[in-house]
Amino acid sequence: MTDRTRRDIPDPETLLTGLLACDGPGPRLSEIGRVAEIGDGIAIVAGLERALADEVLHFASGVRGIVLDVEPGRLGVVLLGASDRVTVGEVVQRSRKVASMPVGPGLLGRVVDALGLPLDGGGAPDAIASRPVEAEAPAILDRLPVTRPLQTGIKVIDAAVPIGLGQRELLIGDRRTGKTSLGVGAILNQRDTGVICIYCAIGQRGDAVARVIDTIRAGGMMDTTLVIAAGDEEAAGLAYLAPYAAMTVAEYFAGQARDVLVVLDDLTHHARSYRELSLLLRRPPGREAFPGDIFFVHARLLERGGQFAPKAGGGSITVLPVVETQAGNLSAYIPTNLISITDGQIYLSPRLVRKNLFPAVDLGVSVSRVGGKAQSPAFRAVAGNLRVTLSQFEELEEFGRFGTRLDDVTRARLARGAAIRGALRQGERDPMTALEQLAVLVVAVEGLFDGMDEATLFDAMDGLRGAMREGPGEIAGRLSGEAPLSEADRSHILDLARGLLEPEGGRGA
Ligand SMILES: Nc1ncnc2c1ncn2[C@@H]1O[C@H](COP(=O)(O)OP(=O)(O)O)[C@@H](O)[C@H]1O
Ligand SMILES: [Mg+2]
Repeated sequence: MTDRTRRDIPDPETLLTGLLACDGPGPRLSEIGRVAEIGDGIAIVAGLERALADEVLHFASGVRGIVLDVEPGRLGVVLLGASDRVTVGEVVQRSRKVASMPVGPGLLGRVVDALGLPLDGGGAPDAIASRPVEAEAPAILDRLPVTRPLQTGIKVIDAAVPIGLGQRELLIGDRRTGKTSLGVGAILNQRDTGVICIYCAIGQRGDAVARVIDTIRAGGMMDTTLVIAAGDEEAAGLAYLAPYAAMTVAEYFAGQARDVLVVLDDLTHHARSYRELSLLLRRPPGREAFPGDIFFVHARLLERGGQFAPKAGGGSITVLPVVETQAGNLSAYIPTNLISITDGQIYLSPRLVRKNLFPAVDLGVSVSRVGGKAQSPAFRAVAGNLRVTLSQFEELEEFGRFGTRLDDVTRARLARGAAIRGALRQGERDPMTALEQLAVLVVAVEGLFDGMDEATLFDAMDGLRGAMREGPGEIAGRLSGEAPLSEADRSHILDLARGLLEPEGGRGA
């Protein structure tokens, strides 16, 4: 400031910075603003001319907020607490900090909200640092290609839509098609893999989140899992922040060279929260009334996943974002955005749910664009023509329904297809080891399940899995290697299966 008369009056900003810098006792000066308007989940604040975008503000009522819009004389603020506690005219102060999330091993086993505050009745989580929830995604040179598999323990995925560590694979489908179940299933399979898991519930009812937590706990996975929950009754601002907070914690662990699996359940609710906030802040609505930057909101979130180079920590963040469709409409705005941002999608079809064919993965529309490279050769060999066999089978099945007289070859192909589709069925909370999966698939492809009814097939699969758990440990050892299943191992599995399926030669070979 060159003005002579103002020389001896310290500029308030300088004074404030000075006061904040010397962290001792003494008076603290801060700027003061007031609430000018209040809406559902948002507030318009006047007077904090120097507040920055993304800065946290403290309201006198104790509620916190984040600056989303900065306009002359007016701040659009998203509230991170109940808006009915805030009143017009209330004093608002700057914090000079952006929204941040505690990070550290102490968060594992905990249930927290989008700011890291405990929701499980425990004390504040043991954190070693607090990191901004918004962070720049790692640069291309800090990344490596996806090459290591993330086993989900779910046959149809590991075989036909394999996921690699560091991949972003969308779980997409109508409501109640099993999306949450798949995401949680993938978490349950990380028991002996050392992969750290984060389940982020966005806009879900409390009882639904409680069920997921119970499942994770019952599966013995809570010790290595963090649950972040932003329910639908709370402020939309927390729901908006939650997935970013999840990525921030994931980045901490990836920076320690750990592999992290993040399930974001779901981004439909996330987009809706953001739309609600944006409309209340009177931002111009675009397609489906979503604000114009919703693509960027999701892109910059999912860009934070990946396999990182050693100089960038060396860990990986695998992200399974969930998105809910309506009446199977994959071309709605948010689903198409997410399909284009991710490295593939797993589509769960209501048609399969109606036939009780769980997991309801529709292989015709599901792809994994990078996971194939990470799939182990043993799986690749068995799964190679699974997709083709199944789609041919479904075509034939349609014909079969017209009551056409079928020749023997067609009948045999129908039986094989039905057996393979049956073999891909799997219950919830029932992860399978790679060897168990492979054994079931090898036996199904070989035709040993042909013509079995449902109950017999399930018994046969159970028996086979039991035999694999007790039996050939040495095959399991070879599976993770670079070699495909050897002919000897394959016949070993088939012999075991024949022994189980044809007791005393009852069936006849
Ligand atoms: N593999 C499965 N086997 C049997 N039932 C399942 C399976 N996966 C999901 N379900 C059932 O389907 C219903 C919907 O599952 P959920 O994961 O909550 O769906 P979404 O998250 O898509 O709404 C639940 O009742 C669940 O028990
Ligand atoms: Mg769900």
